[in-house]
Amino acid sequence: MKLLLLGSGGREHALAWKIAQSPKIEKLYIAPGNAGTSEVGENVAIKADDFAAIKEFVVKNDINMVVVGPENPLVKGIYDYFKNDEALKNVPVIGPSKAGAVLEGSKEFAKGFMQRHHIPTAGYKSITAANLEEGLAFLETLEAPYVLKADGLCAGKGVLILPTLEEAKKELKEMLSGMFGDASATVVIEEFLSGIECSVFVLTDGKNYKILPEAKDYKRIGEGDKGLNTGGMGSISPVPFADKEWMQKVEDRIIRPTVEGLAAEGIEYKGFIFFGLINVKGEPMVIEYNVRMGDPETESVMLRIKSDLVELFEGVAAGNLNEKTLEIDPRSAVCVMLVSGGYPEHYDKGFAINGLDAVEDSIVFHAGTALKDGKVVTSGGRVIAVSSYGADKSEALARSFANAKKIDFEKKYFRSDIGFDL
Ligand code: AMP
Ligand code: GLY
Repeated sequence: MKLLLLGSGGREHALAWKIAQSPKIEKLYIAPGNAGTSEVGENVAIKADDFAAIKEFVVKNDINMVVVGPENPLVKGIYDYFKNDEALKNVPVIGPSKAGAVLEGSKEFAKGFMQRHHIPTAGYKSITAANLEEGLAFLETLEAPYVLKADGLCAGKGVLILPTLEEAKKELKEMLSGMFGDASATVVIEEFLSGIECSVFVLTDGKNYKILPEAKDYKRIGEGDKGLNTGGMGSISPVPFADKEWMQKVEDRIIRPTVEGLAAEGIEYKGFIFFGLINVKGEPMVIEYNVRMGDPETESVMLRIKSDLVELFEGVAAGNLNEKTLEIDPRSAVCVMLVSGGYPEHYDKGFAINGLDAVEDSIVFHAGTALKDGKVVTSGGRVIAVSSYGADKSEALARSFANAKKIDFEKKYFRSDIGFDL
């Protein structure tokens, strides 16, 4: 099989690493990829959302399957683009249809969907400039802190959590008057939920589903979960509180109603669903849906999938995922992200990365790297994910931290407390 994977981050390197292990793979291409993906496949210089260029490449190279890493191509409708094109319609795309991607593309839709299917989530109201007064009145009924979410995609920046009612009212008005452009023309106001978060991933063919290993990510830049939000500073799988009983609640109250709800609403969905959950006094509730894998969760989750991922993808495409097996590695897997000093604010790029050859007992996934004159250099804020197995999380973390010290680039920073709260 010739497979094309779209995307360029740590998530995509981890997916590529796993896909490349499949005996079914004759050739793996990654568009656009990074310095790391070029070690397990062939990078092609095409943007992940340049549909016309993707089409040309797929036709010319007889690609048999396309796997989509990031949300953008999905929200823009790559699934439908393939389905409706004479030359592409027989090439399966692993990812939801445009209608399914709205679960991530619109917070308002996601909340309405959960309400329709009785899926536990925070109470909310959806507000536009036309019903601002209703929004202000709704805020009055809530307790601090206040959660405001831009309806549309904002590269992870569209959620504000505000400590006072005054600030919440002020920010609501700002959001509605274009703080995030069109993305915040509608704002979802939510009840604040207090608890610890957990990411649960499912692969579905639209009818059957497989529950992948869950993970927890660490979003803040500083130790002890302090400071600005980032794309993710590390992850851990399994998550101790996500035991059998808790996961059964997740499956019964959240996963099955979601997959059945999508089918009942006639929404085609053949791909990953990412449930951003929060554990409120032992009860799982949904914070958000994403329509792709998480980053940096993928950099630990992929280590724990023993089965052939490509065979699972074939089940997704054919609609017989129930006939495939998913075997999970009982060991712990963790990922520690090395970032460029200054991130998530201003940081520089182009620093040489040394010490990659000295890594032992960890798997290095590249996030923001590029090749420059044959040398690996930094090309993003999040640079390298150092992933490891261990009999438990402490053993896995010890391996990742030891190797995190060996890899070096100017102004390298990483959190040495990943997993501290579990
Ligand atoms: P989202 O983009 O929806 O994942 O929101 C970003 C982050 O804001 C989440 O990971 C949570 O930490 C936090 N958050 C979102 N919604 C709520 C909520 N209703 N209650 C508490 N925290 C929330
Ligand atoms: N780790 C959270 C995300 O990928 O959105």
